[in-house]
Amino acid sequence: MGKLAITGGSPVRATPQEKTKWPYHDEAECEALARVANSGRWQQAVEVAEFEEMFAAYQHAKHAICANNGTVTMEIALRAFGVGAGDEVVIPPLTFCATGLCVLMVGAIPVFADVERHNGNLCPKAFEDAVTDRTRAVIPIHYGGTPADMDGIMEVARKHDIKVIEDAAHAHGCEWKGTRVGAIGDIGSFSFQSEKMMVSGDGGIMTTNDDDFAALCKSLRAFGYGYTEPLMTSNWRMSEFQAAVLKVQFTRIDDQIAHRIKNAQIFLDRLDEIDGLTYEMDERVTRLNGYNIPLLYDASKFKGLPRAKFFEALQAEGYNMHTVYTTPLYKGRLYQEKAFGSSWVGDKHGREIDYTKVCCPVAEKLAYEEGLSIGHWLNLMGSAEDMNGLVDAIVKIQQNVEEIL
Ligand SMILES: Cc1ncc(COP(=O)(O)O)c(C=O)c1O
Repeated sequence: MGKLAITGGSPVRATPQEKTKWPYHDEAECEALARVANSGRWQQAVEVAEFEEMFAAYQHAKHAICANNGTVTMEIALRAFGVGAGDEVVIPPLTFCATGLCVLMVGAIPVFADVERHNGNLCPKAFEDAVTDRTRAVIPIHYGGTPADMDGIMEVARKHDIKVIEDAAHAHGCEWKGTRVGAIGDIGSFSFQSEKMMVSGDGGIMTTNDDDFAALCKSLRAFGYGYTEPLMTSNWRMSEFQAAVLKVQFTRIDDQIAHRIKNAQIFLDRLDEIDGLTYEMDERVTRLNGYNIPLLYDASKFKGLPRAKFFEALQAEGYNMHTVYTTPLYKGRLYQEKAFGSSWVGDKHGREIDYTKVCCPVAEKLAYEEGLSIGHWLNLMGSAEDMNGLVDAIVKIQQNVEEIL
């Protein structure tokens, strides 16, 4: 029997760590839902318009346009830019499938470019290397709420006349050099899916400072209504119920962010007690939201303990950490088998890409070995005691790592 819980010792935390109740709600959401039900006006109307105004101001953008999720918001943005069959869109490989799917949905070709090691976000240099004369758009994600290098990305995009869609699905409230994300590129896209910072079950919103794109996105969202030219589009509206819930969620977001950041700081203040976990944040990032705090795991400082074993040992001590994306997107079967369906004619109009040959080494190392995060509803929404316990558990694992090797 060893000292570590995984080898039979007593755990740092006696009871398993519980996920914070998420999505969080109280009576206010119930009242908002009843208000809409009783109004008889359930389809997109004033609640949506009011929420759009609140959210645009919050993200420092001139316009915000709701839709029914944070995947179609990116598809609408691509359609607004006229991206179509055979066009290329550069995306990073460490992201949710939606970032690639929206590109495929308009018949365009996802081109993967590598990420930066310290935060998993699109690397401007790799983006530039991936540009061809067919590149029409780029979709940097603000991974886990850490803003991407928007100076570098905007510089490359402007140089090559490429439109920028910020995938800010995780990044409500985050800032790059004092400006909130989603208001830096041409269009920003946010999600209100159940794990996000603000939640309406499903839901999404686009942000932009461009009046023309705003008008076009509004019409693309619903049947082409209100546009001067005919539009071949669909119906992706948000309902009044979702917007009413979001208006309530909005009243809590800043307090929740402050809580998470305070907790993250407790962890980061003790990081020098752990040799082998590092944190690096670009000083141009002026506000985080604590969706995830990105760290790097160096197995050599844990006597070669693979990350998966580290997670197991931590769990036995009663705590959890995780890796957001354990597989680069292009390694998924969709890309490896190019299972894009018969309606996708991207490579009949453009370049053929064999995704089995794609390799983004930094992303692969982060996904398989180095990347690790403190997540929001497991740790950062918890108590200060939880944060200290998490550090204690990691220190204990490091001090007794021989037991599990
Ligand atoms: C990075 C990223 N982009 C886009 C999306 C898609 O958002 P939605 O689920 O609202 O369609 C998600 C998650 O859900 C995401 O994590």
